[in-house]
Amino acid sequence: SMSTETDSEVASSSKILKRIKTVDAAPTDGEVAIKGWVRTVRKQKTLAFVEVNDGSSLSGIQCVLPFDDIDEASKKEIDNLSTGCSVEVVGKIVESQGKQKYEVQSSNLRIVGECPADTYPLAKKRHSLEYLRTIAHLRPRTNTVAAVARVRSVLAGSIHQFFQDTGFVYVQTPLITASDCEGAGEMFRVTTLDLDNVGELPMKKDEDGKTLAGVDYEEDFFGKPAFLTVSGQLGGETHACALGDIYTFGPTFRAENSQTTRHLAEFNMVEPEMAFADLNSAMDNAENMLKYVVGEALKKCDEDLTFFSKFYDKGLKERLEKVVKKPFVRCSYRDAIKYLQEEIAKDPSKWQFPDVEFGTDLATEHERWLAETKFNSCVFVYNYPKKIKAFYMRDNDEDGGETVNAMDLLVPGVGELVGGSQREDRLDVLLEKMSELDLDPEDYWWYLDLRRFGSVPHAGYGLGFERLVCYVTSVENIREAIAFPRYPGNAEF
Ligand code: 4AD
Repeated sequence: SMSTETDSEVASSSKILKRIKTVDAAPTDGEVAIKGWVRTVRKQKTLAFVEVNDGSSLSGIQCVLPFDDIDEASKKEIDNLSTGCSVEVVGKIVESQGKQKYEVQSSNLRIVGECPADTYPLAKKRHSLEYLRTIAHLRPRTNTVAAVARVRSVLAGSIHQFFQDTGFVYVQTPLITASDCEGAGEMFRVTTLDLDNVGELPMKKDEDGKTLAGVDYEEDFFGKPAFLTVSGQLGGETHACALGDIYTFGPTFRAENSQTTRHLAEFNMVEPEMAFADLNSAMDNAENMLKYVVGEALKKCDEDLTFFSKFYDKGLKERLEKVVKKPFVRCSYRDAIKYLQEEIAKDPSKWQFPDVEFGTDLATEHERWLAETKFNSCVFVYNYPKKIKAFYMRDNDEDGGETVNAMDLLVPGVGELVGGSQREDRLDVLLEKMSELDLDPEDYWWYLDLRRFGSVPHAGYGLGFERLVCYVTSVENIREAIAFPRYPGNAEF
């Protein structure tokens, strides 16, 4: 079926005919070309139905091929057709009486690439999400994973749109860094390779041009130990303290050895940073940004969100509409602890972590109870105890120095989606905080300079992009929210 004749026919037909993506399908006067992958083939006595999906829409389009109307070559092609074949179909798009609005009244079909049914991993219709992870290179051909990819793309575009429209400058901060922003000790080290163990790599030469085998120069490439960044924040602050409002949006890395449905070793973070801003400005901005991007997803991804509502979470669209319309709840950490204590006292045995008091780092079950049961809303918890938060957060003067101006945004179904704070902008206070935590000021000399030269109150936050994807699509596991998930024990593909 891949003879040169067929190839040239395909090539010439596509030159003359307009190619239509299924997302834009509408009745046409003349013939058009549809190019995509076969989902199902049904052959009857006088005609065949071929469902083609080109990735531009969830539903794809049904192509009707009456044997009397199609050419001889097409009939032969239909005999070899199976799920997964790539095809080019020529025909008129017309209104359909079937499940879909439109179908293709086809005159011609050519296989572009065959797909042997006996070895194709997606030949059968239903597969578990766990199985699909083992074929991450093929899983975008499934409804769920393709729909996630489309929604993810719209969310990413809308995030950029929101910040670009509101005067934020996009800054790309480095992935290789020498400083640990979060101080959580979860960094990946970046080193050059030990030549003892890798024979084929470029060798370091000695003065005579001879190869120095077995030289381990991991320490000296950057002159100091280097790591993959856990956050672009510190770099972002340098630009906020010059450009005013900035944001970063890029990969971050954490060597958390946790096999949860909420953590990845490589994930993407959106990190706005605003000069002349306090904690409230950060919460307002996070709320406005989320309202905007969720609204865009509702507008632009209706077919995919309808699919997720049908198969994953009935209440999805209603929940998302509420995000756009209703103000988020704001609840102090102290109040959150009080509410949790009252609830836990009713039946401590229901809780995995029943001991909650001022100073407790909230667990996912606590966060989800607050968002899902107590408030049934997106909720900012703010003013966390100083001792469970990062060194750069501004001490809260109104609270006897016990809390910092930090916030987390908790959302139903996901838990923590955003973490942010006002930054400590007072040099002396910051130095004191760093010394309490044994951080060497020399390592942060440039960060401290921001407080030496024209310091300003400033604030920002980080939104976990894959958690947002989970939230908007209702897929439960973050490993479905990114094309090639990285987690302990997995870096295939
Ligand atoms: O709360 P985090 O650790 O905050 C920061 O890194 C700050 N420097 C951000 C800032 O103020 N500019 O992380 C922010 C968000 C979390 O709320 C969560 O959504 C996400 O990043 N996140 C992860 N997502 C997936 N996998 C992981 N291992 C994650 N760790 C954090």
